[in-house]
Amino acid sequence: MKIPIARTSLTESEINSVLEPLRSGWLVQGPKVQEFEGKWSVFTGAEHSIAVTSCTTALYLSLAALGFGPGDEAIVPAFTWISTANVVEHLGGKVVFCDIDLNTFNIDTSQIEEKITSRTKAILPVHLFGLAADINPIKQIAATYGLWVVEDAACGFGARYHGHHVGTQGDTGCFSFHPRKAITTGEGGMITTHNAALAEKLRQLRDHGAAVSDLQRHIGARPYLLADHPDAGYNQRMTDLQAALGSAQMDRAGEIIEERQSLAECYDQAFAKLSWLQTPVKLAQHEHSFQSYPCLFQPERAKAAAISRKTDEIKAINEARNAWMDQLQQHGISTRPATHAVHMLSFYQQKYRIKPDDFPNAFAANDCSISLPLFHGMTAKERDFVIATVCKARF
Ligand SMILES: Cc1ncc(COP(=O)(O)O)c(C=O)c1O
Repeated sequence: MKIPIARTSLTESEINSVLEPLRSGWLVQGPKVQEFEGKWSVFTGAEHSIAVTSCTTALYLSLAALGFGPGDEAIVPAFTWISTANVVEHLGGKVVFCDIDLNTFNIDTSQIEEKITSRTKAILPVHLFGLAADINPIKQIAATYGLWVVEDAACGFGARYHGHHVGTQGDTGCFSFHPRKAITTGEGGMITTHNAALAEKLRQLRDHGAAVSDLQRHIGARPYLLADHPDAGYNQRMTDLQAALGSAQMDRAGEIIEERQSLAECYDQAFAKLSWLQTPVKLAQHEHSFQSYPCLFQPERAKAAAISRKTDEIKAINEARNAWMDQLQQHGISTRPATHAVHMLSFYQQKYRIKPDDFPNAFAANDCSISLPLFHGMTAKERDFVIATVCKARF
């Protein structure tokens, strides 16, 4: 049996939905984009949703629209996908890394305040793997110091915090529709915000800075006149082919999340007895949507090594984890590190002269985490094979 880390699962009607724009001839940022944005707002509770080409462009546009620029600093968790940091670089800013909590893999909010300087403009909390970051203290710090909060909710679809969908508590929320996410459009992203003026600016910036979109112009009184461009914007428009696919999947959003949660529940129960594997934590007031199933291998050892900054010990656990990943791969089960520690990647390590143990929890997460296959559409046979194979391992 071959079990991938994730597998795209689309119904026939979702696949056929792509034909609609092909037949109508409206292919870019038209009625299907508007429909997808509408469904996204209803599902998340955001007042405005703006579809773009990826989560990375969503993050970039959010910071650009807020006014983040050269010399400004942004606080970014050290364990996240590289693009959370890259967008800060692309705008000429400085990335200020903050360590994470090894129980949740999310930013350690107790370390944020000490990173703030007179140049800090934004905090970019990341809701990793479907678990909300602890956004209340982050909002409080941001209010105290007058900072923007741009939520990286790339993996956050369906994740809730105190009843609120992630991506609706900061200035903006940024989502990804890459195929490893629960809702996919191939590539694609969405920005959410409650701020009408900011939404307007974002809509303009994604569309070359145009004051009026093609769709507005076409349904307006004088469709033959071109719009003004108050900004030198970008082309970050979503196609209607992508939006049709996203919109069709939204009709079973609840089902998709429930299926993922129920797979995770089976894993949780089966792995509860394995002291050498930390499964995703269950936190009060958090609804986990399981974009993936990130675990920590040999958690007690990894946490102790992180606290005492024992690099060799983390490396030893890393070797054991990799050997286990090899074994799983030989059984046909694909795994991955949960994500990467950005401060350990060459560009950031060299530019900012950072050592892995400057952010020891992110270092440990990088070297000792492992995500097991979890995706909606996974069969009971696949799930049980993963469970049986993991439970057979001895450490
Ligand atoms: C935390 C996080 N942020 C940003 C991104 C970038 O998303 P995209 O590929 O849609 O640009 C990802 C992608 O996996 C991610 O996991």
